[in-house]
Amino acid sequence: MTPSSSLPGGPPAPDLLAWYDRHRRDLPWRDVSGKPDPYRVWLSEVMLQQTTVAAVGPRYARFLARFPDVAALAAAPWAAVAEEWAGLGYYARARNLHAGAKALAEQGFPRDVTGLRGIPGIGAYTAAAVAAIAFGVPVVPTDGNVERVAARIHAVEAPLPGAKKALDALANRWMEQPAARARPGDFAQALFDLGATICTPRRPACALCPWREACAAQRAGIAETLPRKAEKKARPLRFGVHFAMADADGRLLVRRRPATGLLGGMLEVPGTPWREAAWAAAEALAHAPVPGLRWTALPGEARHGFTHFELRMTLLAARHAGGAPEGFAWLPPAEAKAAMPTVMRKLLVLAEDAFSPA
Ligand code: ADE
Repeated sequence: MTPSSSLPGGPPAPDLLAWYDRHRRDLPWRDVSGKPDPYRVWLSEVMLQQTTVAAVGPRYARFLARFPDVAALAAAPWAAVAEEWAGLGYYARARNLHAGAKALAEQGFPRDVTGLRGIPGIGAYTAAAVAAIAFGVPVVPTDGNVERVAARIHAVEAPLPGAKKALDALANRWMEQPAARARPGDFAQALFDLGATICTPRRPACALCPWREACAAQRAGIAETLPRKAEKKARPLRFGVHFAMADADGRLLVRRRPATGLLGGMLEVPGTPWREAAWAAAEALAHAPVPGLRWTALPGEARHGFTHFELRMTLLAARHAGGAPEGFAWLPPAEAKAAMPTVMRKLLVLAEDAFSPA
């Protein structure tokens, strides 16, 4: 076989596509009709950023059942979208999806990368993915899988994230081959599948790889060490104290977070702000939703990693027979949990026994 350096567009697209035709994963958002629905493609690509294929599967179907098209999503209140997103994490994605749907409902789906980039919340990756998969535009959407494949095929030793641009440019040169240009959506998805099943971060299955002959890293015996990554800065630690209040029926006191900012519009267990200094008990109690109650500290601590900080939370519990204070609501714990983000679900694990009816 010809080494990749002497091929015009890099590793042979026909070999990858032939492999994809035999081994493609059967995924719920993959269209078999030959006319992919851009809304579905867009939704799946947004969900698949930061969330695994396995986790997205059932949630994708559920989301579509509730918001079957752009018009339905655009017309929905934000709280409904946020609740349907609960547990998927990175809620800015849901907010972008909602904002994007409103723009798309007005103007229709642009069919090229530039037009798609003009939709609020659609970034370079998503624009390329929708353009390639839904509209057959010959462009490579470079996600983490594609970066890894490119770093290995071309033995790029410069570390991420600095090497992102160079890897994206290399991957897009592959699309210059006629076989790739004839099937841009399949070529993109073949790259995703190659990265997810063969060219995996650890222990890549090079013996099974359709691009083995073209892979410079495999030849050099360094495939598993690529892509290199620049050392990450440690995330700062923040602390929060939260208040699990139950009424006589065992319902939980919740509130909605402000519409903008971290976890905007999501339900939460009330608490202190999240800050870098730990809370003294008296200081934390000044943030309790109802003053003067007898609070019991529940054992344990919940942890959650956000993009920019690592959170440690503790939970105080109390009973309160009166009505919900202004701005709060009582909800059955199961219902509250179902609508809450993962960080709050982790916190409520500490209170598993605290919500039996009095
Ligand atoms: N990761 C991102 N987009 C994907 C897709 N369409 N199929 C499989 N994995 C993906």
